[in-house]
Amino acid sequence: MNHHNTPLFTALREHAARDPLQFHIPGHKKGVGMDPEFRDFVGSNAFSIDLINIVPLDDLHQPAGVIRDAECLAADAFGADFTLFSVQGTTGAIMTMIMSVCSPGESIILPRNAHKSIMSAVIFAGAIPVWVNPERDEQLGIDHGVTISSVQKAIEQNKAVKAVLLINPTYYGTCVNLREMVECIHSYNIPVLVDEAHGTLLHYHEKLPMSAMQAGADMAATSVHKLGGSMTQSSILNVQGNRVDIRRIRTFMSMLTTTSTSYLLLASLDAARRQLALYGRELAEQTIQLSREARQQINEIPGMYCYGDEICQKKGVFQYDPTKLCIHLEALNMTGFDAEQWLRSNYNIEVELSDLSNILCLITLGDTEENVDTLIAALRHMSDEFLCLNRSYTRLPVSVPESMCISFTPREAFYAQAESVELELSCGRVISEFVYVYPPGIPILVPGQVISPEIVDYIKRHLEVGLPVKGPEDPTNQKLRVVAGPTSKEVSFNTAEYIVRD
Ligand SMILES: Cc1ncc(COP(=O)(O)O)c(C=O)c1O
Repeated sequence: MNHHNTPLFTALREHAARDPLQFHIPGHKKGVGMDPEFRDFVGSNAFSIDLINIVPLDDLHQPAGVIRDAECLAADAFGADFTLFSVQGTTGAIMTMIMSVCSPGESIILPRNAHKSIMSAVIFAGAIPVWVNPERDEQLGIDHGVTISSVQKAIEQNKAVKAVLLINPTYYGTCVNLREMVECIHSYNIPVLVDEAHGTLLHYHEKLPMSAMQAGADMAATSVHKLGGSMTQSSILNVQGNRVDIRRIRTFMSMLTTTSTSYLLLASLDAARRQLALYGRELAEQTIQLSREARQQINEIPGMYCYGDEICQKKGVFQYDPTKLCIHLEALNMTGFDAEQWLRSNYNIEVELSDLSNILCLITLGDTEENVDTLIAALRHMSDEFLCLNRSYTRLPVSVPESMCISFTPREAFYAQAESVELELSCGRVISEFVYVYPPGIPILVPGQVISPEIVDYIKRHLEVGLPVKGPEDPTNQKLRVVAGPTSKEVSFNTAEYIVRD
């Protein structure tokens, strides 16, 4: 395959160059009908290829021309049998994966630190989650992967599960032994779906952890827009093998996708694939090198710790992605959220995420040594101001409380008759909406879960320090939507067996 080619991007440029007289949407017609300030800022080139699925430009819903060619090149570049482009982010790709393997009432094994898109898919599919707790890192206050033995236990207890979904890497960058995990799950002839939102570069360098396709997974949803250079919202779904049905997968992707697909986003995927296929290794090498230097310097700053090779000794971690700098504010008198705000106000630096104890900074193929130097200088300054060697500052745990009592399936709870109750008075009630902190978007409460005092306290602590608690219909987070009537004592099913611990 010739990865110098960009069939879709080239077709769009050629079409725009022909300058056709357009009597179709979009109504801005090459930008002429758009607000002039916006048009001038964005540029007329962008408007000239903001087109729709007219015949020469193929149709994402049933690709048979330039989109199909671009997807085939992407499949080759990512080591898949098939690649489907998504203009609904990795969220759309994740929903497609789950809905294509799980019908209503069927169960799926999920890690408890699953992203909210996974839970939305479970609700839409009417699937029943079998939760597996990830390994908790008490030192850093974050979760890593699930262990092979806990997944195996979950399968043994739930032989009819339709799939196992794994997150690899985690948002914070740790990876499981994916190949062994996939082999184990495949020995039960169960498909493996991977949320690879944060793993776009993995496929392109042997020093990075193995990608889902390299490990033999059946499907992987990969955010090219996050770390692979394409535009925000553009992702891919990689598919391989015969445990899953590509036709059904295409049907669900189409059902979940707008009919007005953005050709700007699609073209950016085509171009990002070209760059990754031709220069991915070289770009990944530079990125790894920059991250290595940054990590070393961060670890020399008093009061900060950025995990490295030693993380692989921990349970639930086999490898890690060095381009993610999880900076633990070990002995600084501030939360991660304080640090995020301080860096914004004092250095105009924006981090990827913050939590109670950490900030996460991503080094990507868009970074330079100068960027890293500025970050390090800012972190040194922050340490000078907030170092607190007497450790009077008590760190609060970050991870979502592990104990979890579930009394309805997510779908039952979501569609049940509901009422609003004060957060303070919600203990013992069954939540019918999501509550999560975004980023990372991991639900603190999933519909169907019984609200415990521990969880109310956890939400309150996040609100107190200003972390973005989202999800409730009440945007002030004063009230939660709970199932009307039945309390946790009147459960529709007992889920002790639905939560598996290692
Ligand atoms: C682990 C994980 N999975 C899935 C997603 C969804 O990706 P997208 O924003 O491309 O829809 C995210 C987004 O942050 C994520 O962190």
